[in-house]
Amino acid sequence: MFEEIRKNNIYKIFLDGRWIESENNIKIYSPIDNQFLGSIPAMVEKNVLDAIDSCEKSLISWKSICLFDRCEILLSSANKLFEYREEIANILAKEISKDYKSSLSEVIRSVDLIKETVAEAKRINGEVLFGDRMSSQTKNKLSIVSRESIGIILAISPFNYPINLSVSKIAPALIMGNTVLFKPATQGSISALHLIRALELGGLPKGIINTITGRGSVIGSIISKSKKIGMVNFTGSTSIGESLSKSFGMIPMTMELGGKDAAIVLSDADLEDAADNIVQGAFSYSGQRCTAIKRVLVMKDIAEKLKKIIREKVSKLTVGNPFDNCMITPLINNESADFVEKLINDAVEKGAVKYTTGERNKNLIYPTVLENVSLDMDVAFEEPFGPVLPIIEVESIQDAIDINNKSIYGLQSSIFGKNIDEIFNIAEKLECGTVNINGKSERGPDNFPFLGIKSSGIGVQGIRYSLESSSRIKSIVLNKK
Ligand code: NAP
Ligand code: G3H
Repeated sequence: MFEEIRKNNIYKIFLDGRWIESENNIKIYSPIDNQFLGSIPAMVEKNVLDAIDSCEKSLISWKSICLFDRCEILLSSANKLFEYREEIANILAKEISKDYKSSLSEVIRSVDLIKETVAEAKRINGEVLFGDRMSSQTKNKLSIVSRESIGIILAISPFNYPINLSVSKIAPALIMGNTVLFKPATQGSISALHLIRALELGGLPKGIINTITGRGSVIGSIISKSKKIGMVNFTGSTSIGESLSKSFGMIPMTMELGGKDAAIVLSDADLEDAADNIVQGAFSYSGQRCTAIKRVLVMKDIAEKLKKIIREKVSKLTVGNPFDNCMITPLINNESADFVEKLINDAVEKGAVKYTTGERNKNLIYPTVLENVSLDMDVAFEEPFGPVLPIIEVESIQDAIDINNKSIYGLQSSIFGKNIDEIFNIAEKLECGTVNINGKSERGPDNFPFLGIKSSGIGVQGIRYSLESSSRIKSIVLNKK
């Protein structure tokens, strides 16, 4: 089934419904053991412009198909994705070093996401508004409010969820009648091309999705010169998000960017439960999640107890190969490991106490807890995207709120405690998109709104919200005589 998308282990470009060979390619190696996995197309300007043309040509026919039929096609694609889930999970685990179990759940979660997006699209189909609700308005006007496609949506996904954070952009865009120019992360492109093949096998009409692979730094400037892109839907780092918003100018954008999610632990918290959530939240997929818990703000009176429980739990984390379902696996590349190590060293030099279960081996960093962290250490505010958990002790709830808010990011926060009134008062003061009470920070369930404020993002994701942001409202006003 996947033979079509490669020749001699060189992957192809999906252009206008056909898989075509590329003249230039980039070799992809596994972060696990440096095994060569295949080459992906390094597309040049002509390829990119052809892809944009294909999206443009296909737009008229795709958006004129009725919603029901678009939904049926997406459901059929979801079924194909489910059929090939194990093959795709296997590639995903190798390509981004994610444990196999999580890789498989990522694919299955994406199938569910498509199905629920279809169901929700049928619910938000439109409404009629009457003009006599306001005293100054006339009774003789009514607005038929419908949703229409925006045009070509540029979907750019990050390395850490090559299937799910691609599907969460592609599905709502296509269902709402847009066409998609899809740029996966370079490390993640092999998984993403398999995803597109599975969706294609479900019966996608030609041209409604075209793949753009190659280094983002090269591709980005080519695409931004085109004035044909209707919207950008991006997940990735804040710095790239900022540069995209400058280069694409005044078009709608949804961006999920970096984070520095805090877990605030109050004096009356169930420490066992808080520590469980914190360790899972901080270390799953070796901390390479935007929603990972990236700092603990704990009340001083319970800090010693909490640190001890966290250390015990961290000592039991499995480290090694994704195919042994280890939680801590090699990071995506050596540069990421260098960055994490630098943050750890800076903290230790400034007085932090380090607890780790092993020494770095190439891009594998053992889970590390940093205690006695103070605000002058880089790790207090930088996003490591690795398996390191800084613990900051606070004197008061107000200190915790201030430190939480003293961040350029505002993705999520967690509060652990028992006094629900106190927790709500804190939650209202935290500057972030979502506050989790007695639970770790996380994006799902996928029908919940997911958003970051400040440097963590623009717009809202989540099934209904993504459908809304992937479409625009059209109001047709009827004047009754
Ligand atoms: P990244 O380096 O920003 O890359 C993200 C995507 O942008 C990749 O597809 C990348 O392609 C592409 N890209 C890079 N430069 C570009 C340019 N000039 N124009 C167009 N596209 C460009 O991020 P990452 O390393 O994949 O992911 C880690 C970061 O993403 C972390 O900061 C993390 O917090 C954030 N993240 C946030 C969320 C969220 O939901 N808030 C989710 C996941 C990740 P190449 O791979 O070819 O460079
Ligand atoms: O990495 C960013 C993702 O949006 C996080 O998703 O909370 O389901 O792991 P997750």
